[in-house]
Amino acid sequence: MGGGLGDLWRSAGHEVVEVGRDGGDCSGSDAVLLAVPQTAIADALGSVSGLEGVPVIDAINAVRGPRPEGFESLAQYVKSLTGGPVAKAFNTNFASLYDRIGEARATPSMVYAADDEAREVTEALIRAAGFEPVSAGGLENARAVEDFIGVIFAVAGQSGPFLYRIAPPDKL
Ligand SMILES: NC(=O)c1ccc[n+]([C@@H]2O[C@H](COP(=O)([O-])OP(=O)(O)OC[C@H]3O[C@@H](n4cnc5c(N)ncnc54)[C@H](OP(=O)(O)O)[C@@H]3O)[C@@H](O)[C@H]2O)c1
Repeated sequence: MGGGLGDLWRSAGHEVVEVGRDGGDCSGSDAVLLAVPQTAIADALGSVSGLEGVPVIDAINAVRGPRPEGFESLAQYVKSLTGGPVAKAFNTNFASLYDRIGEARATPSMVYAADDEAREVTEALIRAAGFEPVSAGGLENARAVEDFIGVIFAVAGQSGPFLYRIAPPDKL
């Protein structure tokens, strides 16, 4: 997911730096995408510096066991570790279809939930990846966005990965 989004964002003119297990310095970034396994959240965030005030976009699905105790959503857990603005996004679409977005007749949707300070950059990066942002509200609704993956996986289990669009009737 991280590499795929990096390619899409570079194609849209953004400067993207990929940070792996060795960590790195994120200071001055407009946003940081967190796309590691659920079990590596604390490790990954602990290996980077310069996160203060940088919006973190959490794309992680809770598919590897329970969420950390005391946290309703993975996104709220991420926020507890960074202390800065957080968004939940990119977790409800398939990275395997990133190179086929151009085939779609309509712009596919990306549901997200975000702190106010993370909203603008999250929407911009969703658009830059070829999706239309659909707000599910503030970070308090991140759990709903995480739970949406249940429907996504159930449908994909029947008919394979798909794109979808959420829009009022006149925009469908
Ligand atoms: N793929 C999708 O369609 C999709 C869709 C929605 C959400 N997601 C979410 O996105 C996340 C990544 O999924 P993926 O499919 O991209 O998996 P992936 O291909 O296995 O990529 C995971 C990446 O995380 C890195 N990583 C693991 N532990 C790390 C650590 N401690 N510090 C820094 N980096 C670490 C891995 O590095 P190494 O290469 O060194 O192991 C790898 O680059 C998951 O949480 C998944 O739920 C994926």
